[in-house]
Amino acid sequence: MEPIRLGMVGGGQGAFIGGVHRIAARLDGQYALVAGALSSDPARAAASAAELGLARSYDDYRQMAAREARRKDGIQAVAIVTPNHMHAGPAIEFLKRGIHVICDKPLTATMAEAKRLAKVAEASKALFILTHNYTGYPLIRQARAMIAAGDLGALRLVQVEYAQDWLTEAVASKQADWRTDPLRSGLGGALGDIGTHAWNLAAFVTGMEPEALAADLSSFVPGRALDDNAHVMLRYPGGAKGMLWASQVAPGNENGLRLRVYGAKGGLEWEQENPNRLWFTPFGEPKRLLTRNGAGALPEAQRVSRVPPGHPEGYLEGFANIYTEAARAIRAHEAGEALPEGVLFPGLSDGISGMRFVAACVQSAKRNAAWVAP
Ligand SMILES: NC(=O)c1ccc[n+]([C@@H]2O[C@H](COP(=O)([O-])OP(=O)(O)OC[C@H]3O[C@@H](n4cnc5c(N)ncnc54)[C@H](O)[C@@H]3O)[C@@H](O)[C@H]2O)c1
Repeated sequence: MEPIRLGMVGGGQGAFIGGVHRIAARLDGQYALVAGALSSDPARAAASAAELGLARSYDDYRQMAAREARRKDGIQAVAIVTPNHMHAGPAIEFLKRGIHVICDKPLTATMAEAKRLAKVAEASKALFILTHNYTGYPLIRQARAMIAAGDLGALRLVQVEYAQDWLTEAVASKQADWRTDPLRSGLGGALGDIGTHAWNLAAFVTGMEPEALAADLSSFVPGRALDDNAHVMLRYPGGAKGMLWASQVAPGNENGLRLRVYGAKGGLEWEQENPNRLWFTPFGEPKRLLTRNGAGALPEAQRVSRVPPGHPEGYLEGFANIYTEAARAIRAHEAGEALPEGVLFPGLSDGISGMRFVAACVQSAKRNAAWVAP
């Protein structure tokens, strides 16, 4: 099978997530990176492309979209790995030309951009994939399948948190710079950057979205324009309750994404920093440690697992699972076939949900943590 021809916007020298996307795209041999507009600075874009041995380098994503769409061997999909305010513009340019988009989260910086992008995505014949990469971990697929099968009974409690410490003080770095700037990050600071991952993960695993939330937001670092800590209470339809904590000022936490879900019959507990383990407690029985691809692994988890249990898989493999799921979807789509069974990836509706989450938290916090509908 020929690899899918992939382009990239962003991800030049000194950037973070672009390199992760390149590894994720290559891991299962499903893509070949052939073109890029890798930086907002044309000289850096060219130097970055040369370093990667890219066949075609562009100064600007508009030029790239127009020229690639005209080529017989033009890109079939593009990865968008720019800061939040630079998602909508490129996504729209490529979708309009029928080129599939694999975009990083959050969907956009503003709700107005999200709505514009949604209109174009819905009208496009191309697919839109959003890299909420944590949904790609095998034991997250396992947890989702167990909850759907009723192993926990009726859900009562959802505790989700994503804690980091790297913004505990004012930091001068490429990554911190745009994340703390409302014009480039959007309405949310920690909320948009990592809170949206927590929100998405809880929804993916439980199959439920809150109908109301109450948020207490803080900017602990003097002069910081956006939140760096968010405590959010959640109410689900049917009576389940939840709490979401997103923080970038919690010393000792690196990428502390943690999900705990409890129902009438049992509980599940998972941590991103130890992703090959899932704790399952049927109520009244000893805790059981489920391992990735180990005894008791469900088909939903096995199909996104590469190596035997005991050999760790983690962030890069989970990210690659989203790329490989996207490749399956793209190939089926281009062949005019239905999505193959079991293929799962986050998309437009997840992105819109994340934007509504951020906007609702900001609205709630302004009203002294009033309950609002997301
Ligand atoms: N899914 C995840 O786990 C995860 C992790 C980190 C970041 N992200 C998301 O990825 C995106 C990028 O984050 P990052 O930390 O890599 O940022 P970064 O600042 O390290 O890199 C951004 C890159 O975009 C380029 N860029 C900016 N404007 C451009 C333009 N007009 N044309 C071409 N390139 C342009 C910059 O030159 C740079 O190369 C953000 O939306 C962020 O939320 C996701």
